[in-house]
Amino acid sequence: MKEISDEEVKSLTTAIKNRYDLDFTCYEAKSLKRRISRALSVFNMQSTHELWVKILREQNFINQLVNELSVGLTAMFRDPKLWVRLKAIIPQLLEQKDTLKIWHAGCSTGEEVFTLNILLEELGVRHKVTSLASDMNSDAIYTAQQGTYHTLSLSEYHKNYKAFNQTGSLQKYYEVQSQKGVMDLSLIDNVRFQNSNLITDSVDEKFDIIFCRNVMIYFDQAAKKRVLEKFYNNLNTHGLFIIGFFDSLATVIDKTKFQFYDLNHKIFKKNNTNLDKDMDQIIKKKLNLLVHLAKVDGHFHKSERAFINSIIMEEGLDPNDFYLSSSNNLPVDDVEDISDKADMVYLVLKLIQADGVIKPEEIKFCENLTKKLDYDPNLIKFFAYKNLPSRSEFNSQLQGWAAKSQ
Ligand SMILES: C[S@@+](CC[C@H](N)C(=O)[O-])C[C@H]1O[C@@H](n2cnc3c(N)ncnc32)[C@H](O)[C@@H]1O
Repeated sequence: MKEISDEEVKSLTTAIKNRYDLDFTCYEAKSLKRRISRALSVFNMQSTHELWVKILREQNFINQLVNELSVGLTAMFRDPKLWVRLKAIIPQLLEQKDTLKIWHAGCSTGEEVFTLNILLEELGVRHKVTSLASDMNSDAIYTAQQGTYHTLSLSEYHKNYKAFNQTGSLQKYYEVQSQKGVMDLSLIDNVRFQNSNLITDSVDEKFDIIFCRNVMIYFDQAAKKRVLEKFYNNLNTHGLFIIGFFDSLATVIDKTKFQFYDLNHKIFKKNNTNLDKDMDQIIKKKLNLLVHLAKVDGHFHKSERAFINSIIMEEGLDPNDFYLSSSNNLPVDDVEDISDKADMVYLVLKLIQADGVIKPEEIKFCENLTKKLDYDPNLIKFFAYKNLPSRSEFNSQLQGWAAKSQ
């Protein structure tokens, strides 16, 4: 295999990021070098320069390359003890909730997805569970949906299955057709597959369990932190987060957000600390203010609701829960503890622009609010009819504006 230098990795990952907005810059250099070297031989290329030129010139090539760089080893009932443990945990969760939502983040060719659904089938609760299975490798997703595996792999999976359930048999879940085992696809009729990237894409849903096993192993510390933050927001209260046996998050995990639920099986539980609860109150107050503003003209326009929903989800809450909860009754006059005041002004401006018409009642409400937040009320009229920049850019513009008006 060809040796790849740090510079070569850098120029390739930068080209991929700049041209396609796909981020491989945060993958560990060692494993990336191995993968690039393998890709060179698969594509029959002599140098990384050749690869670099192809990346920049041929838009259709990037998908093949991503699939090659992300090939992932997996197996059914991998780490059988985890699945034995989950056989006990899942019924407990279903005592607290009628249905469960699960996300297999980095599902590869689907073995983990079939594993969980066989487990659910054997517990007789599969109808109570819906899942999302995502991976950035489109070939892997395709294989997962076909549920077709080589019989040699399946014989390996048999051993794992036996360690999970001595009395059962994996054989009843697939049929052999010319050297291939074709899984019973009805096992995954409750699963939605998605070709997406954990680093660059977001998922706007909440889950009770997130599996992300043997995926982050290739991420650098900063990427691990970012993805963990996303998972935290995607988990329901007290949701579980499961990583792989060799995954190590010890140095990056925020202990105020996750606690160990089962150390041996690398299962974490989402924390809801007092700090979170206080934060929640402030966030809800902010959101409540936005809802109040949206309704101030007597209508809750579709685009206003969509904008507020995106902010609710960005804050890690479920729009349905939010509208049903008593937060809609929080007083809107009290803005004392809203610390990110500039951000609040930005959100109200975005909101009054959301339905394309800026009404006098909305301006009035915003002027009042701006005053309470210690800004000049004319600020609203100044910005309301302008194209707003990004949130951070607005923040610095606002500082300049405040300085001018003093
Ligand atoms: C080693 S496999 C793990 C499969 C399965 N979770 C398991 O433990 O058996 C890793 C998978 O993570 C996927 N992956 C790596 N980086 C990813 C990213 N940024 N977004 C989505 N999937 C990613 C790869 O495509 C690969 O299919």
